[in-house]
Amino acid sequence: MYTFADRRGTSLTLRPEGTASVVRAYIERRLYDLPLQKIFYTGPMFRYERPQKGRYRQFHQLGAEVLGDGNPRAEAEMLEMLTRYISRLGIKDASLQINSLGCNECRPGYRETLYSFLLDNKDGLCTDCLRRMEFNPLRALDCKIKGCIEVTAEAPSIVDSLCTECDGHFKAVGEALTMLKVSYEVNPRMVRGLDYYTKTTFEIVSSGLGSQNTVAAGGRYDGLVKELGGPDTPCFGFAIGLERLVMLLKEADVLRPAPLVVFIPLGAEAEASAAALIPGLRDKGLKVIEDFSAATLKKRMKKADKLGASFTVILGEDEIREGVAAVKDMRSATQEKVPFDTLYERLSRCD
Ligand code: HAM
Repeated sequence: MYTFADRRGTSLTLRPEGTASVVRAYIERRLYDLPLQKIFYTGPMFRYERPQKGRYRQFHQLGAEVLGDGNPRAEAEMLEMLTRYISRLGIKDASLQINSLGCNECRPGYRETLYSFLLDNKDGLCTDCLRRMEFNPLRALDCKIKGCIEVTAEAPSIVDSLCTECDGHFKAVGEALTMLKVSYEVNPRMVRGLDYYTKTTFEIVSSGLGSQNTVAAGGRYDGLVKELGGPDTPCFGFAIGLERLVMLLKEADVLRPAPLVVFIPLGAEAEASAAALIPGLRDKGLKVIEDFSAATLKKRMKKADKLGASFTVILGEDEIREGVAAVKDMRSATQEKVPFDTLYERLSRCD
């Protein structure tokens, strides 16, 4: 938690994630009366973690939650949406891993089994895991230390300890994912850092991210609404780490900003033409800057170059008379005359 005292000494804690806030709003605002309880949110989150590549004390999440639906198909639908979103952004190297953390019926038994296993093998565990195993032995499965990975490779698997209800649910999630053609891998070692999860949990991981390799994660949290004072409500959701998503977009080289166009009108008539043309181009999504200065054309071209323009559109007297603009491609330094009515087509084509 990112907790600190303000100027009056009042202790403040910044939110570490959005799910608990959604649940609070759900209860306070009686959102369970809505016919469809699907919610999304985005915003800054804060965690007092040791910063490193991909792990920050302030970061941003885009999250979605479906409340009031315990059907495994509702989970598969969310996961299909999430994986489709990520792949439509152009990110190829991302895979879905799922696990089940069971429920209050079966998890305590697994904790016991795992605890005994860790106790029998404690010589191979790091000091952190020796400490962790006392209050949450599952965290040892998550340890990145080589010795611990070797020890826990032989540990009993949680998916083999699920009760009939959780086992059936987990299998149904797998079947629903297959029906939706979402590929996934079962990773019984995946342990989530938040403690509200029940049954299905998942992570979307990418090797392009280094050690902080999870771009999105989430799972089912059937007990949280009730725990916070609301009705018994099954829930499922995810959050995408936006900084990590941007890292993947950069790596996939799909972050291409819209080309910048700089208009250089020469004279009052040209200014009127620029005023008539520019709003329509902006409406269609082009980024346009108009140079209002009275400097020489050479200086204005230099400035456009400094601004990183992909194109400059020069409007002079001759051009206006002909109903054309002189479009200069700043990269190839070639210039051509383009009729006003095809200006957008030319400017949106950045070869
Ligand atoms: P989480 O796994 O703690 O889950 O965070 C979700 C994502 O936020 C991570 O996969 C990661 O991409 C990003 N993230 C987390 N911590 C940091 C950090 N310090 N710096 C940069 N990125 C970070 C949750 O927060 C749950 N609320 C997800 C959820 C929604 N579960 C059910 N519904």
